[in-house]
Amino acid sequence: MQIWLLDDAVIQPVCRVLADALSPDEQQRARAYRQQWHRDRFVARRCALRWLLSGYLSCNPESLRFRVTPFGKPVLQWPDAERLAFSVSHTDGMALLAFAWDCRVGVDVEQWIDGLDTPGIGRGTFSATEEKMLDAARPDPTARLLSIWTRKEALLKALGTGFSGEPNAYTTEDDSLLGEGHWCASHHGARIAGWTFLDLPLGAHFRGALALSLEGARVTLQFCQASSFADIGVSAE
Ligand SMILES: CC(C)(COP(=O)(O)OP(=O)(O)OC[C@H]1O[C@@H](n2cnc3c(N)ncnc32)[C@H](O)[C@@H]1OP(=O)(O)O)[C@@H](O)C(=O)NCCC(=O)NCCS
Repeated sequence: MQIWLLDDAVIQPVCRVLADALSPDEQQRARAYRQQWHRDRFVARRCALRWLLSGYLSCNPESLRFRVTPFGKPVLQWPDAERLAFSVSHTDGMALLAFAWDCRVGVDVEQWIDGLDTPGIGRGTFSATEEKMLDAARPDPTARLLSIWTRKEALLKALGTGFSGEPNAYTTEDDSLLGEGHWCASHHGARIAGWTFLDLPLGAHFRGALALSLEGARVTLQFCQASSFADIGVSAE
């Protein structure tokens, strides 16, 4: 499975080359962003998603059609490509696009924010065990908070419900057996087996997590470079 990182350096090149590939409803969504920068990031994310999906599926980026599930998850309507799972996440300065065959995938990235803690944060979303882990990390719970948050969101995106499911029925924890960088998850106390759960090494400014319904999966992280788009007419900047 592959995860592609889209950072702000490639936003403009991607927009310039691929913006025409967006569907009318995506263009409408883009226009709804008030700030140009947010609009550009959305356009670049969608264009990169189309460009990468078209590579996996050997079709034109503009020929892809999406529909959205009642929970907001985008899925491919055309081509009929049920075997290819994908997940997208973004925060200020970075987007992740994850792709995997024959399984479910969820990815999340959040920007590091110093001193992130407000009373009641995570209430209704974190399980009792997660709330205890958060309490134990105080007075400086940022790292723990972001790891619970990104792990949970990755899992809920893989399941397709997002936070409208039953987020506090799931617990995410460090995986003491597999060690650093690995986590595990349970639902109402029953361990979710046969999955790969990883924290993603995204540097000091970001936290990210991946959930994949496949045991022992090999994951590669790749940067979308401006030069990746060279073959479709963009020069690196
Ligand atoms: C999924 C969810 C956790 C995303 O949270 P977020 O932190 O705002 O955003 P992220 O950047 O991490 O992820 C956004 C991406 O998640 C994907 N996504 C949206 N809903 C999803 C879902 N239910 N399952 C999986 N992926 C989903 C989309 O690709 C979206 O990208 P886009 O905005 O470019 O289309 C949150 O939107 C959620 O809980 N949604 C469910 C709530 C619901 O039922 N909404 C109904 C809307 S019609």
